Amino acid sequence: MEAEIISGTEIAAEIRGELKEEVKELKERRGVTPGLVMVRVGEDPASVSYVSGKSKASEELGIYSETIVLPEDAGEEEVLAKVEELNNDPRFHGILVQLPLPKHIDSDKVLNAIDPRKDVDGFHPVNVGRLLIGEPFFMPCTPHGVQQLLVRSGNSPEGKRVVICGRSNIVGKPLMAILVQKKKGANATVTMCHTGTKDLASVAREADILVAAMGSAKAITVDMIKEGAVVIDVGVNRIPDATKKSGFRLVGDTDFEAIKAKAKAITPVPGGVGPMTVTMLLVNTVRAAEMQSA
Ligand SMILES: NC(=O)c1ccc[n+]([C@@H]2O[C@H](COP(=O)([O-])OP(=O)(O)OC[C@H]3O[C@@H](n4cnc5c(N)ncnc54)[C@H](OP(=O)(O)O)[C@@H]3O)[C@@H](O)[C@H]2O)c1
Repeated sequence: MEAEIISGTEIAAEIRGELKEEVKELKERRGVTPGLVMVRVGEDPASVSYVSGKSKASEELGIYSETIVLPEDAGEEEVLAKVEELNNDPRFHGILVQLPLPKHIDSDKVLNAIDPRKDVDGFHPVNVGRLLIGEPFFMPCTPHGVQQLLVRSGNSPEGKRVVICGRSNIVGKPLMAILVQKKKGANATVTMCHTGTKDLASVAREADILVAAMGSAKAITVDMIKEGAVVIDVGVNRIPDATKKSGFRLVGDTDFEAIKAKAKAITPVPGGVGPMTVTMLLVNTVRAAEMQSA
C-alpha cells in the first residue's frame, strides 16, 4: 500500500487557525498585540525571501512585525547595539536575527545577546539548556514542527524507536532533546546518527520513525527503511532540472518516490517540514507575548 503523505501545508494551516484565535484573545483580554522583530544584515537573496515570508505570515495572524535591515558592512558592535535596543523595546516580544550573518560578525555572540525570553528561534544557550532539562521557554522551530507533524498526523513518537540522521544544533540535537522527554508527544527511544555512524543503513532500518536532516539529496534510500516506518524529511536540496525555468528543483534527503511504496507515511519536499518551521516561529512569538504579559 502507498504511504500516507503527511502534508505540512495542511497541518501548518490548522495550527495557524488556532493561533489566530489566540492572538485575538490576547488582544481582547490583555490588550496585547504580539510583536516580532527581525534583523537582517545585508541582502543575501535567501535571507531576504525568508524574512519577507515570516513577516507576511505574522501579519496574516494579526502579529505586529517589523524588519530592521542593516548594511552588509555593519560592524558587530552595531548589530549588538541593535539587539540590546530591541531587548528593551516592549513592542517586540520576539526577536529573530536572520542567519547567516556576514562572515565578519560572530553569530554566536549576536545570538547570545538576545534576551532568552525574546529568543523565539530558541538558539540562546539558556534556551538550549532549558530544552534539555524539559522546561523550555521556546522550542526551536524546525524540530518543534517535526514533533507537531508526527503528533497531528496520528504518528505520535511515544514508545517508538526514532532514528535521527543529522546532529546539527538547529535540527538534529534539539529534536533529540524534544523527543526523549518523559512527556506527551515525546517519550521516544532516540538514536542519533551522523557521519561517524558505522553502517547507517542497519541503524536506520531499526527506526519506527526515521528523520532525515542531513542536507544530502536522496541520501536515505528505500533499503534503509523498515516496512511500515514513518519518514520525516527535513532536507532541502537543489538538484539540476532542465525542465524547470530556474534550472533546478528541490528534493529532500530521502528517495521519496521509492520510499513511498514501503513506508506507512512520509513528508514531501516541498510542502512537508518547511511550512511548519515558519508556523512554529509564530507559535513562539505568541508564547513570548503571553509570557511577557502574564
Ligand atoms: N525545511 C526547513 O525548515 C529546514 C530547516 C532547517 C534545515 N533544513 C534542511 O535540513 C537539512 C539539514 O540541515 P542542518 O542545518 O541540520 O544541516 P547541517 O548543519 O549541515 O548538518 C548535517 C548533519 O547531517 C550529518 N550528515 C550529513 N551527511 C551524512 C551522511 N551521509 N550520513 C550520516 N550523517 C550525515 C552531518 O554529520 P556530521 O555532524 O558528522 O558532519 C551533520 O550532523 C538541510 O538540507 C537544510 O537545508 C530545512
